[in-house]
Amino acid sequence: MDDSLKAKVNAVHDYWNTHTLGLQYITDHNLEVGSPAFFAHIRPWMNPYKFPWIMERIERESQLLKGKHLLEIGCGMGYDSLEFLKRGVRVTATDLTPNAVKLAQRHFEIEGVKAEDVRTANALELPFVDNTFDAVWSNGVLHATGDTFRAVQEARRVLKPGGRIIISHFYRKPSWMYYMNRLGRENIEYKEEDPPVNQFLTDKEISALFEGVQIVEAAREHHRALPVRRDGWKAFLYKYGFRPVYNLIPEPLAKAFAYKLSVTGIKV
Ligand SMILES: C[S@@+](CC[C@H](N)C(=O)[O-])C[C@H]1O[C@@H](n2cnc3c(N)ncnc32)[C@H](O)[C@@H]1O
Repeated sequence: MDDSLKAKVNAVHDYWNTHTLGLQYITDHNLEVGSPAFFAHIRPWMNPYKFPWIMERIERESQLLKGKHLLEIGCGMGYDSLEFLKRGVRVTATDLTPNAVKLAQRHFEIEGVKAEDVRTANALELPFVDNTFDAVWSNGVLHATGDTFRAVQEARRVLKPGGRIIISHFYRKPSWMYYMNRLGRENIEYKEEDPPVNQFLTDKEISALFEGVQIVEAAREHHRALPVRRDGWKAFLYKYGFRPVYNLIPEPLAKAFAYKLSVTGIKV
């Protein structure tokens, strides 16, 4: 990695180590971090429970991957991995940040599931040999690493030939969030401070990341403007101006400006 990429990874690490995804949704600050009540309080805001298409994808993939070994890259508090584990998939859960890894480990203990491994790992230089896993799952991560192409190619490298690569929630452009982001200069999806890196790409640019992968599905998702927890005047305009009006747009037009693209492929 060159120095400029290292600097990005350090910034990404420092941000996410103190802003583990989920913390932004806590409204009861008396909850003990890592307690059963803590994970239950956050759960409704997390991807598989908030976005039905993510849970459907986990269910579909789990049927194909029962007893097989899946790597999750950027597991955060481990909600996605947990759902795979509950469905009989063997999981290695990884994240760049030690705080996420600790929380994911605790989360699995509380839920009574056992992962193959839970450890820190950088998506840009995965500590696994080539052709290790039957599947790689990553949700909302690779576009936020500082080098999206390298991250997808690392995921491909550690996959066995014929293995499944399932990458959800690349940020799309053009999309409603892309224009809002440019106009407002902030990502109102986050509570206080934006992550240091979030790359928006066109559908064509996203497909080009999957060199050596046969894409079997590319789905546009998150086409409606969703509730946010951010405060301030920009969030106010979003909540009471943009969101109710935007959500009246007919489905086909809204889909053209969907915020996210999720890609499933097979390593060739
Ligand atoms: C938006 S959060 C998503 C967390 C989780 N996938 C979820 O949906 O709940 C992004 C996660 O990616 C992790 N991350 C960012 N850069 C990474 C990298 N280079 N390697 C591994 N994980 C990384 C962050 O630490 C953070 O936990």
